[in-house]
Amino acid sequence: MDNADTTVARRFVEATAHSPESVRASGHTLAWDVKPFPFKVYVDAPAVALAREVDPLGRRTMDALAAAAAPADRLTLRGLTALLYYSAGVTKKKSYPGGGEMLFRAAASTGALYQTEVYVVAGAVDGLAPGVYHFCPGDFVLRQLRAGDWRGTLAEAAADPALARRAATLVLTAIFWRNTWKYQARGWRHLYWDSGTMLANAVAVGDALGLAPRVLAGFVDAQVDRLLALDPDREATLELLPLGPEGPAAPPGGRLDAIAPEVMPLSSAEVDYPALREMQRASALPDAASVRAWRAAAVAPPAPPAGEAQALPPPPDGGRALDETIQRRGSTRRFAHVSLAASELAAALWAATRPLAGDVPEGLVESWLIVNAVESLEPGTYRYHAASHGLERGRRGDLRRLAAFLCLEQALAGDAAAVLFFLAPLDAVLATRGNRGYRLANLAAGVAGGRAYLAAYALGFGASGLTFYDRHVVDAFAPAAAGRHAIFVTALGRGAGARDGVLVSTTIQPPRGRT
Ligand SMILES: Cc1cc2nc3c(=O)[nH]c(=O)nc-3n(C[C@H](O)[C@H](O)[C@H](O)COP(=O)(O)O)c2cc1C
Repeated sequence: MDNADTTVARRFVEATAHSPESVRASGHTLAWDVKPFPFKVYVDAPAVALAREVDPLGRRTMDALAAAAAPADRLTLRGLTALLYYSAGVTKKKSYPGGGEMLFRAAASTGALYQTEVYVVAGAVDGLAPGVYHFCPGDFVLRQLRAGDWRGTLAEAAADPALARRAATLVLTAIFWRNTWKYQARGWRHLYWDSGTMLANAVAVGDALGLAPRVLAGFVDAQVDRLLALDPDREATLELLPLGPEGPAAPPGGRLDAIAPEVMPLSSAEVDYPALREMQRASALPDAASVRAWRAAAVAPPAPPAGEAQALPPPPDGGRALDETIQRRGSTRRFAHVSLAASELAAALWAATRPLAGDVPEGLVESWLIVNAVESLEPGTYRYHAASHGLERGRRGDLRRLAAFLCLEQALAGDAAAVLFFLAPLDAVLATRGNRGYRLANLAAGVAGGRAYLAAYALGFGASGLTFYDRHVVDAFAPAAAGRHAIFVTALGRGAGARDGVLVSTTIQPPRGRT
């Protein structure tokens, strides 16, 4: 299958679009007896227990989003541990009446299903032998899958020689069944949204620690999957995140023998979703030359405002410390009908549209909004222009009911102060980046949503990711949004406190062992 044959992505987008009719006709029910286990457990791989006291990050959230700290001269195991914890660690435990318990993690994830897995290809990490490791947030352990320095192999797969010199690279993957159990083939989109929210945290933390993180979405899929010993029908590599200073280059990649470490089954049975596997395979790149060509293809910048754009106040600096923001983050379950200040909305929009170092181009997604209650902004629709930090007005009026309808009839969006809709000019993105362009658009929107979450919790308000009726979202912004596709939605506002009438007690899990 060929990345340039974009009929696959177009068919997939159509087949997995939500509409009131498709949702009502779905008939899908949750098979609780085969709900996948939320942690990947290697049965006998050698374990490296991580320090149970995680270092504070020492930067305020808005400052970490604005600029990187001075470059660190080395990557230590303690720094790597902090990065893993604040990106993928267990940060909260909720207890439900009757004894139920759920573990929640640093980054938001569709349905709290946590299909994103994290691996580390380490070469020059102080305190950690070179090797390929899997991070398990459940017992807070790295398990070694391969010994030795594999950075040369990864650099070849990524067509980026710098990866052989960087101290380590995180590799994010996704286990399909964890998400498709609930969301079926549409879950493919969630793989990229959820790795995006995790990367929003990882990049902010990496920048706070001076580790110069870069997000790479271009690589030879089969080579990285093989390095990690993934079964590509069940789990796939999504992104790479090189970290730490450059040192002497690792030797070029040698022979990559197949390994088959034993893994605990996720559940007693799994359902296969061929449309998801087809979308993943059809967006793969076969060799390093294709990666280079794919990376070089330009994506058109977003169109400038058609009319007058209303300037927004500058985003405030500071906010909560980044580690505290991440510990407190949790999707708002009910919004109060209370206004946000224009500077608060401005902060979320600014954060969502920060450029991302790496090979994810700017201009893949545009930010459109429904404003319900923001001081000094009339309710209605708007488009945000990052270059001028301004809002272009669309139609006026109270659109709370419409916002709720668009978001799968969830009250959350009607109650929110503002709802951010990330839309992509999909034709242009597919024309230049092929099927993998659709990966990029979902990823970019996930990162944007994750950054909006960080800004919100840094400044003391709330956020929640949302799903949506695809075509109706674009129609809501007609005619200006013609030709766009809906990619992802994030609602912003102040929480109403009570959790939808359900009694829940929440314990923030401190970094393990910290009292
Ligand atoms: C991409 C994405 C889509 C989401 N969609 C919805 C949604 O449609 N409705 C909802 O109530 N919550 C939604 N959420 C919130 C998740 O349910 C929430 O992140 C998850 O339960 C974990 O909880 P936490 O964010 O409080 O840690 C979404 C989150 C993400 C990241």
